[in-house]
Amino acid sequence: MSVHKEFKKITTNAIQEMKQRGEKISMITAYDYSMAKIVDEAEIDVILVGDSASNVMAGHETTLPITLDQMIYHASSVVRAVERALIVVDMPFGSYQGNSKEALSNAIKIMKESGAHAVKLEGGQEILESIKRILTAGIPVMGHLGLTPQSIYKFGTYVVRAKEEEEAERLKSDAKLLEEAGCFAIVLEKIPASLAEEVAQSVSIPIIGIGAGGGVDGQVLVIHDMLGINNDFSPRFLRKYANLHQIMLEGLKNYKNDVVSKDFPNTEEQY
Ligand code: KIV
Repeated sequence: MSVHKEFKKITTNAIQEMKQRGEKISMITAYDYSMAKIVDEAEIDVILVGDSASNVMAGHETTLPITLDQMIYHASSVVRAVERALIVVDMPFGSYQGNSKEALSNAIKIMKESGAHAVKLEGGQEILESIKRILTAGIPVMGHLGLTPQSIYKFGTYVVRAKEEEEAERLKSDAKLLEEAGCFAIVLEKIPASLAEEVAQSVSIPIIGIGAGGGVDGQVLVIHDMLGINNDFSPRFLRKYANLHQIMLEGLKNYKNDVVSKDFPNTEEQY
């Protein structure tokens, strides 16, 4: 019988150990103090301050507009709330693709100003130089392959990636390159489950999937989607664990009715 090891603090080594023991890794996004506090209380292993903040927090159509300073603002709010989880911050579009020196100074800025533990970058071979340079500064890097939303205008659509042989082969070789470069984990987004499982078995670092099936080492979802705050996004891979939209709407309508009807505040709710 395998005994689940209790970690006081999740580190990159801890999730590596989890992979070795066959324990699944839980990861979820958070962007603010109050949510991150609940996520940490739930003992989710990894918190991703995702650039999906651009969509769910700021209402942009894509992840492209969010800035480095905005990511640092979200990340530092999360850091103040968390005691246990490993905190990974997305490097935003434009902050690492230009040249590797700029990538390093932007990664250092994120680490210094937010207090987070690691950064995540989208891409393989084409950004390898940036990844290597960031790693030389002692900053842990998580990779991200498959559907990479920062490249949406190149893909033109959010459909499943790497269904064709050529793209699947490129993804497998990118995963190997990221492992060899020293990334501590890789997110695989929206690719066939069989391919994701093959990658997870072929590398020693944890593979965290989103829409990549159950054969990987862990799962990640966007918190607004899985708690049903957003009701207009329902891809096949998304399991909804709550309908917070409904609960919040009811609470707010009840509050409005109580204000209008002068039921709130009552004599016990005043000084
Ligand atoms: O920004 C994000 O939320 C992500 C996840 C979808 C993995 O990168």
